Amino acid sequence: MKIAVLAGDGIGPEVMDASLKVLDYAGEKFGFKLEKTTALVGGAAIDATGKALPDETVELCRNSEAILFGSVGGPKWESMPPNEQPERAALLPLRKIFGLYANLRPAICYKELINASPISNERIPEGFDMLVMRELTGGIYFGQPKLTEKTERGERAIDTLIYETYEIERVTHLGFKAAQARRKKLHLIDKANVLESSLLWRKTVKAIAPQYPDVELHFMYVDNAAMQVMLKPTQFDVMLCENMFGDIISDEVAAATGSLGLLPSASLAEGTFGLYEPSGGTAPDIAGKGIANPIAQILSGALMLEYTFGLQKPAQALRDAVRAVIGEGIRTADIAGAGTRTVGTEAMAEAIRAKL
Ligand code: IPM
Ligand code: MN
Repeated sequence: MKIAVLAGDGIGPEVMDASLKVLDYAGEKFGFKLEKTTALVGGAAIDATGKALPDETVELCRNSEAILFGSVGGPKWESMPPNEQPERAALLPLRKIFGLYANLRPAICYKELINASPISNERIPEGFDMLVMRELTGGIYFGQPKLTEKTERGERAIDTLIYETYEIERVTHLGFKAAQARRKKLHLIDKANVLESSLLWRKTVKAIAPQYPDVELHFMYVDNAAMQVMLKPTQFDVMLCENMFGDIISDEVAAATGSLGLLPSASLAEGTFGLYEPSGGTAPDIAGKGIANPIAQILSGALMLEYTFGLQKPAQALRDAVRAVIGEGIRTADIAGAGTRTVGTEAMAEAIRAKL
């Protein structure tokens, strides 16, 4: 099992180290072995080579079955031209080069952590559990033309929102399949009252729906969806979104869980290749202090075992171990609360390993 390890910046390296210890232990226990090769990405790569995504890094990824990714960016590189900054110059090309068309962001608000959620406890007495399925290589992020030009009155800027049927179809199938394995409910989040592309999404999703008769299909405008996430997150199971709506909704859903430090993500290509990364960022304010929450990175590893390597059992065991440790009141600072024990990155990873 050949994986490229791109830890990146900020808390990336420390949560990556901690997660690899847990994943290696899972390998011993369940009988698999990760062959890990590390490479530079993001600000660390800019400092060493001048580029956020060096050719050698791309080459390593090409020769790997999956990418385990940390996080990139930080104040040090924020004054660079936007196109060269770590987030844009590393993540967007990786998505395009490797055809990572589907981005899965599962968001669980654990019952034990409902106090950390900004949503009032009465609305989520049992917490919630949803999945944002975001299209990742199309739409307004990549559509052409994309440019700024001079006009008589100043300048004008153009972004193009464009979708083709096949791009909608492949991520929609993943959305329905995910729903079948969950609570069998799918919401297409769109803006079909205004956007032509949303009409194509609706038409395409409707045409596919009969193949998944056990899944209940709903359509919801994105502005209403943003509101409903705050009012009644428990109504959602899978939220299927085009690229930019998914970007926005997934941050909202993440915030609603109470901590970014818990949320993993998977970006999948056709076949089994995928990039797995925590949903949170580099958290420069706490980087290097050994207090960052490693759970999102560990759960990203679990998604990798599941989607790229087809190893359901260890993936589920990792998730169960995380849940059990949270249940015992062991917390990193970001999710600490009354009556819990606060530990650092290493100790949290060790508690999860021991539980495993
Ligand atoms: C994300 C990020 C990226 C995106 C940025 C950094 C380009 O916000 O992964 O959600 O907008 O997709
Ligand atoms: Mn985002």
